[in-house]
Amino acid sequence: MGHLRNLYYLFPPVVRRILRRIWYFPVDAVETITGKRDPMIPPRGMIFIGSGDFKEMGNVLRDQLVELGGLQPRHRVLDVGCGIGRVAVPLTGYLSREGSYEGFDIVRSGIRWCNRRIGSRYPNFRFIHVDLKNDLYNLSTGKEARSFNFPYADEEFDMVVLTSVFTHMVLEDTDHYLDQIHRVLKPGGICFSTFFLMNDRARTLLEQSGKKMFATRLGHHYLFHPRVREANVAYDEAYLTAEMIGAKGFRMEQVHYGFWAGGPKPALDNYQDICIFRKI
Ligand SMILES: C[S@@+](CC[C@H](N)C(=O)[O-])C[C@H]1O[C@@H](n2cnc3c(N)ncnc32)[C@H](O)[C@@H]1O
Repeated sequence: MGHLRNLYYLFPPVVRRILRRIWYFPVDAVETITGKRDPMIPPRGMIFIGSGDFKEMGNVLRDQLVELGGLQPRHRVLDVGCGIGRVAVPLTGYLSREGSYEGFDIVRSGIRWCNRRIGSRYPNFRFIHVDLKNDLYNLSTGKEARSFNFPYADEEFDMVVLTSVFTHMVLEDTDHYLDQIHRVLKPGGICFSTFFLMNDRARTLLEQSGKKMFATRLGHHYLFHPRVREANVAYDEAYLTAEMIGAKGFRMEQVHYGFWAGGPKPALDNYQDICIFRKI
């Protein structure tokens, strides 16, 4: 584990976000003054969800929702852990007026930006902030995800999306979210999600590449960092598929392994493993 990353984890989430804003302030200020930034892209200092090109990654994810997940323009979508709108922005050009989008996240600044830039222009897109604890993203509350019931009716959604969210949640929270997803999905509805799946393949690749990832094992899941538990979390694939996803009444329909553990890049170029499962 790099020293820089360890140093980064020493700061609480709010401080990390402030440092990011300060670091990118010069370039963000220039882009604001010159009007160079697309109004549907947040300033770099506000993008707290990870590296990579915001617009390009968002478009890739939208295409995957459509081509792999079968998303249709008239669908009703729930984006759990919607961050700062990376998936929502490209969906504004895809969902029709009959379609709609709900997103929620535990980081207030991301939801504020989404409401200002997206919600105000697209009335069928709504975003809400939920104050829940996460070691990586929010330490301002003690409320746990495992006790949070999604504020939506039963069988409301055609698709539930979680991109790079279960990779930041511990097993008990994920287990509860799977129950909630099952409740809010229509029968036959799809959950499009990403994970770090631990299996023999990943173990071999990790060994070959010499990557020191997920050294802390806690039952059926593995932590990247023992103190910042939700920094990155991997799941035992067999347990996740059979005892969690399968046991709740979903059928796993597609698994597309990413290249996080090493090895060549897959055709989809996905870093995390994509799991697509259907409510049966
Ligand atoms: C890596 S970011 C991905 C954001 C977004 N899904 C995307 O692909 O751009 C992980 C997100 O999960 C959110 N998150 C973490 N725990 C959560 C929870 N229990 N409920 C909802 N969101 C959560 C974080 O606040 C953060 O926005």
